[in-house]
Amino acid sequence: MKIKVLAGVIVTLAALIIVVLGVFRIMADVQPGRDASAKLGIPYPTVIAHRGASYLAPEETMPAFLLARELGADYIEMDLQRTKDGAIVAFHDDTLERTTNVKEVFPGREKQFINTFNLGELKRLDAGSWFNKAYPDRAHPTFANQKILTLEEVIAVVEGGVNKPGLYLETKSPERSPGIEKLIVEILALRGWIGPNAKKGALIFQSFDAASLAKFKELAPEVPRTYLIDEDMARKESWSELVDRAVAHSGVGPVGYLGFPWNIGKAHKKGLLVHVYTINELAHIRLFSFFGADGLFTDRCDRLLVYQGRTLPAQPADILKKLGY
Ligand code: G3P
Ligand code: CA
Repeated sequence: MKIKVLAGVIVTLAALIIVVLGVFRIMADVQPGRDASAKLGIPYPTVIAHRGASYLAPEETMPAFLLARELGADYIEMDLQRTKDGAIVAFHDDTLERTTNVKEVFPGREKQFINTFNLGELKRLDAGSWFNKAYPDRAHPTFANQKILTLEEVIAVVEGGVNKPGLYLETKSPERSPGIEKLIVEILALRGWIGPNAKKGALIFQSFDAASLAKFKELAPEVPRTYLIDEDMARKESWSELVDRAVAHSGVGPVGYLGFPWNIGKAHKKGLLVHVYTINELAHIRLFSFFGADGLFTDRCDRLLVYQGRTLPAQPADILKKLGY
């Protein structure tokens, strides 16, 4: 009798879970996301190497970008900032403290914003040794003294291999660098990433700053744009309000915490793509893929590619070795 009751409970629970998952999937309304991706030439579901293959190499440095390219990521994501002398560099934080030796090279300037440094100064910094100290299990002696890269240098990386990933470019703190959008567009146009011969879907702009996206829309309306959304923004405005603002662009990029199927579905219904950040754990990759995300920003592009059934050309450690790291 007891076994019968237990079996009944298990079957009921299993049925309930299946129903709930089915409802989630319906809520996510996946087809419009698929259609919007196809229309824009964006691979579906798409693999976005967040700051390069940044789990395995120092973020936004040469080995991280090269490794992401060689692994076969669809896009290389990076954060762009303008230096004091007008160069565009790939760098995430406002200050140089966390990921460089600024304290040793420019004592007293470690709290200064990156846009108070000129490119020559930034090129004197070591942007790799912090990684070796923080992650000794993933360290490589050749990561030491990696340099902060310009946008032009990263373009050369993505154009330089057999795999040709796209560029997924974020303006970071754009309010501190007025005119940064124009500089970025000029660099890309000069290299054929914008203009009549540009490859469809190869370039996506992204920002938490709607004004920055509006500038890109004015300068290069044909390039897709993703409106990034974090917890703070979602505390101040409802998901519907944020999605309504994003309708001027191509998609939303919510933090994982906001990637519920009902949120994803709402965005899809408005014809928007949903690329969720930053998803590294396999369980989370499974979850957000099931919830209908059209792509994921991940530090683990190796893991996401495998999850999607795409064959890695070799193990990441072997690729790094072949690349000379
Ligand atoms: O661009 C998506 C994601 O990178 C946004 O967060 O802080 O890593 O730039 P963050
Ligand atoms: Ca970013």
